[in-house]
Amino acid sequence: MKINFILSVFAIGMIIMSCTNQSAKKQTADASKSGYYTEPYRPQIHFSPEAHWTNDPNGLVFSNGNYHLFYQYYPDSSVWGPMHWGHAVSKDLIHWKHLPIALYPDSLGCIFSGSAVVDANNTSGLGKDGKGPLVAMFTYHDFVGAKAGTNTFQNQAIAYSNDDGMTWTKYDHNPVVKNPGIRDFRDPKVCWHEPTKKWILTLATLNTITFFSSPDLKNWTKESEFGEGVGQHGAAWECPDLFKLKVEGTDLEKWVLLVSINPGGPNGGSATQYFVGEFDGKVFHNESPSPAPRWMDYGKDNYAGVSWSGIPAADGHRLLIGWMSNWQYANKVPTTVWRGAMTLPRELKLKKLESGEIVLSGYPTAEFENYGSKWETLQSEKSSNTYSLGAADAFDYSVELDLGTASQANIQLANSKNEVFEIVLDKAKQQVRINRNHSGETSFSPNFPVDIVAPAQIDEKVSLRLVIDQASVELFLNEGLLEMTNIVFPGEIYNEVNIKSEQEIKITESKVRKLASIWR
Ligand code: FRU
Repeated sequence: MKINFILSVFAIGMIIMSCTNQSAKKQTADASKSGYYTEPYRPQIHFSPEAHWTNDPNGLVFSNGNYHLFYQYYPDSSVWGPMHWGHAVSKDLIHWKHLPIALYPDSLGCIFSGSAVVDANNTSGLGKDGKGPLVAMFTYHDFVGAKAGTNTFQNQAIAYSNDDGMTWTKYDHNPVVKNPGIRDFRDPKVCWHEPTKKWILTLATLNTITFFSSPDLKNWTKESEFGEGVGQHGAAWECPDLFKLKVEGTDLEKWVLLVSINPGGPNGGSATQYFVGEFDGKVFHNESPSPAPRWMDYGKDNYAGVSWSGIPAADGHRLLIGWMSNWQYANKVPTTVWRGAMTLPRELKLKKLESGEIVLSGYPTAEFENYGSKWETLQSEKSSNTYSLGAADAFDYSVELDLGTASQANIQLANSKNEVFEIVLDKAKQQVRINRNHSGETSFSPNFPVDIVAPAQIDEKVSLRLVIDQASVELFLNEGLLEMTNIVFPGEIYNEVNIKSEQEIKITESKVRKLASIWR
């Protein structure tokens, strides 16, 4: 629906022009420019492109010390349009270096979302000088076919790089997975399956996931389809991911399947659900206890998140980054030079609850923990439980509460313009509620200032972490058992925390880390 709507806004001629005019589209950093990354609402500790539109992260692959981040990018405007893959790299998952656009549209279509892998054994034969290439798999979206009403306008293709991801060559026999007549047939995520010694492609196919296998990344065989009757439906499934993770504190390993859906999220619009189970190289066996959806993040602004491939198994970390927006208003948020940013990279973990249920958690990475100044314990202003965070480009704030018999606590982030971002920890209802109705600029969409609610296990002792940037608040309850990511557009960053309850509560610890911009 979204794509059709947006499509109608663009004339085909303009698309073709954009697909062929590759000259001036460079996206490279020049941090020496004065005023660099200082525009209103510019994220200071999150990735955003220097200019123009971004949505999903793509092609996340770790290779030779570089975390590659490709991303859906439209270099001609700050609204969605014919997609390219923008490109940035990071050595520490904190600082990003902008690189030239990696993949441009061509006669087969524009470049929709996808993934990348290190083909270390050169199974594809596309390597050079005895060295395996990086291989990216993406969806060609053919606007002309879509406009003509065909059902076969999305097809999967590959490109390869023999200079460690710096430049890419499209394979000359694309597409490698042809559309059998499914309108939504996209967002390939590839992983290596060691027991069967095959590549596995996890693909969003209308409202299911289809798994394919391949010995060489070029020839693919359909294995199975998953999704009927489980999880959230009612709209296209998008941007899947499949990976194995250890269950924390056990020797057990389980497979996790992430599936984004838009609309249909728990608080409206876009969101990502997950399934936990087994994968045998052919079929995903869901072990989630009920057919009801389980959401990775209950905020409104963490979509299309996928994880990095290529991180050595011995390291074991599974790191994800998501697009920090929501299709309900992504094209209207009040930024001008650029539109769209990514979440903080997060480490995913599987945790076993007391009930025996295995759930997915996400928390800022160890690298983030080591970035910025040390934690400072805060003293509240006389009996008011108001804490000043001081001055910084961004803040990492953490509070430990003992709610005792109190049924709820209210935590407000505020600035000197009386803009507030409100969080209610409701022990009685076992909920976290967020209200950003007075958080700053909200008038661009009626879907922005709405109640944001998450079911949550809230005991007497609560630990809450809030990563506050110029235009976002990422909430982590109890070490990431609940994640809520929300964007905001305040006139200045929130630098005050106000904690209230109608009953008696204890604040056992309130501390902050001041974070400097990653861009200067
Ligand atoms: C998800 C998505 C993908 C698609 C891309 C297009 O946000 O709709 O399914 O590949 O965005 O930009």
